[in-house]
Amino acid sequence: MSHIQNTIIGTARTLLGWVPDGWLPSGEPDPLVGRESALGQPTSRLDGAVKVAGAARFAAEVPLDRMVYAALVHSPVTRARINAIDTAAAAAAPGVVLVLTHANMPPLGTPALIGGTDMTAAGNSALPILQKPEVRYNGQVVAAVLAETQEQADHAASLIEVDYARLAAQTRFNNAKVTARTPPSVLFDKNHVRVGNPEQELEQSAFRVDQIYQTPTLNHAAMEPHGVTVAWNGDSLLVHDATQGIAPTAMALAKLFGLKPDQVRVLSPFVGGGFGSKGLWDHQIIAVAAARMLGRPVRLALKREGVFRMVGGRSPSEQRLALGADREGNFTALIHTGYSVMPPYATCPEPYSLGSRSAYRARSFEFIQHFLDLDIVPNTFMRAPGEAIGTFALESAIDELAHAMGIDPVELRLRNEPEKHPVSGAAWSQHDARKAWLDGAERFGWSRRSALQPDGEWLRGMGCGGGSFPYARVPGNSVRLTLSRDGKAHLACSAQEMGMGTATVQTQHAADRLGLPIHQVTFELGDSSLPTASMAGGSTGTVSVASAVAGAAQKLLAELLGLAKNGPLAGLRPADCEFARGGIRSRKHPARHESFGALLARAGRDEITVLGTASAPLEFFKYAMHSTAAVFCEVRVSAVSGEIRVDRLLGSYDCGAILNPKTAASQLRGGLIMGLGQALTEEVLFDPRSGRIMNPSLADYHIPTHLDVPPIEVMWTGIPDPRTPLGARGIGEVSVTGVAAAIANAVFHATGKRIRRLPITLDQLLEATPG
Ligand code: MOS
Repeated sequence: MSHIQNTIIGTARTLLGWVPDGWLPSGEPDPLVGRESALGQPTSRLDGAVKVAGAARFAAEVPLDRMVYAALVHSPVTRARINAIDTAAAAAAPGVVLVLTHANMPPLGTPALIGGTDMTAAGNSALPILQKPEVRYNGQVVAAVLAETQEQADHAASLIEVDYARLAAQTRFNNAKVTARTPPSVLFDKNHVRVGNPEQELEQSAFRVDQIYQTPTLNHAAMEPHGVTVAWNGDSLLVHDATQGIAPTAMALAKLFGLKPDQVRVLSPFVGGGFGSKGLWDHQIIAVAAARMLGRPVRLALKREGVFRMVGGRSPSEQRLALGADREGNFTALIHTGYSVMPPYATCPEPYSLGSRSAYRARSFEFIQHFLDLDIVPNTFMRAPGEAIGTFALESAIDELAHAMGIDPVELRLRNEPEKHPVSGAAWSQHDARKAWLDGAERFGWSRRSALQPDGEWLRGMGCGGGSFPYARVPGNSVRLTLSRDGKAHLACSAQEMGMGTATVQTQHAADRLGLPIHQVTFELGDSSLPTASMAGGSTGTVSVASAVAGAAQKLLAELLGLAKNGPLAGLRPADCEFARGGIRSRKHPARHESFGALLARAGRDEITVLGTASAPLEFFKYAMHSTAAVFCEVRVSAVSGEIRVDRLLGSYDCGAILNPKTAASQLRGGLIMGLGQALTEEVLFDPRSGRIMNPSLADYHIPTHLDVPPIEVMWTGIPDPRTPLGARGIGEVSVTGVAAAIANAVFHATGKRIRRLPITLDQLLEATPG
């Protein structure tokens, strides 16, 4: 996102008074809000059975004839020049058919990076791939071996000797601060924002907190490691990928390899989790190049270590959070600034300050983010990039302020609930964080907090934390809809399913939109040859695809009425009609109805197909649209060992209408568990001398397992957003926000020790002094 684009959006927001009031040109709420039938049901995932039975085929499981297997060689040093690579032993090893290095890799550009306004971008790294004898980060791929079996490829890769001339490198967070960059924009927002005189307000405030909060590098740790199986057929390329950006990956590969868009097909029907990591990295490009050179299909499946070494995760950060309040607890100053790491070849600015701009009312604000250039694996977007760690700082500081003032931390938050967006002044489209807080506190039993008693060596505590994530629709979504005479509807687009229930929810949606029972609707996705859907990211998928489904239904209605001729619907316009009971009826005279079957039969048609497109997401220019979280947690902490046990977690959300309470609860729970890992156990450890990741395995990088996860409750206000398709917003990311702070605040309540650096480890707790 360039500053120019940013400025254009800002100007448009000011000038465009004519922007429609919502996603529908009429400005009315979606007619399906409150009229749901299939929607609102706890429908099980339609792809659940095939996954449980092991019949769902993932990208690295597709068997192809004459396929060869790839193994990668990762640099063990950071910033270096390659003097020589000795590949002789590898090339002579059994089964080896090709060794690829910078010496024989075909010349290639690099793909456009995700994160801006280019919706065809899929890339995560701007570094050339095997193009030059240069290494920029420890873990970078310096060679690939292709062999008849995976074991042969792995063995041969171990025989490659690389002679590196090491160059001066920057791998230390603190040392890089002197050369920090401060770009004008952070994603779609201005970077430096100042309202009033926050430093002076802070100085003069009755109560204040001014602290530094630190968060580590995190890895997405998706269950399925990245993998790809590719095959060329003449000049056409077929890619079985594990990606959350099907259409963008196809377009990016077409551009890189000089093909027309229809010469590349990306299939990705199932993805075993992405969380932001499943974009276009070096491995897909190496596999495609190798397959072309060999004239044989190639499978390249990263090992878990490979994922850690070359798929960057969440940036580490050091954030200053300062809060001032008057005697009544009204915020007078909110300052959120700091440093995170973003190498110049990476794409994600880890926008931790953005959530703080919409969270609370205050008399003055200052926000600015600085970026450190380290020679390490390029960081990228990871579930609630920004908010996931920004809320740790903000919501810890609020807890500190509440403690200093001697008031309840929930009460302090409610006192500062904003009536409109506190910085831009835009009206909320819908916002009831207050209800999420009050309902959550009630259900959790927050009022019992002060009565908690230690249980032997176990100190007990309760804490809470708020969270948020913005709403957006991504432009450019389309869906093909085919309706047949037997009253069955089939919808298709290149949306992605990485476990969140995309196909299930859109099937429910299409059934209600078309007035059909759910078993008469099918929804196909995961294939770039289908009409284009945007990538799964930013919690935008459901609403973005939904507005294209609605567009298709609208088009279908018009086309069917065009066939109505002298039937019961003759002479009616689309605006007079609606889908109902397996057909179309007049709104005014519901008895005037004709079934799809009868209508198509009279027209002599077996089926009808339309291509629907989404309306432009103009609501973004007019309204502040954010989901919010209120997270509650109860912990026990051993006074002897510092061991922390989270006993209960509750997440209460104001996140629009919930379309499927089963898949939604599952996704929200997943976010809370990810937050639990962030709070207590997850940390990518770098050796600062070499930039080498020291714990590239799930044995050493601990994500929560069953024994770590307590009973979790999730709840929602269920209030529809009147300006979004189905009244829905996204829920994938708000669920991870606020969790780490809630846990840290509970630990403080239990122990009196304030830990401002994640994860909260036993040694930190034992060393800390109360206060
Ligand atoms: Mo995400 S970080 O939008 O998959």
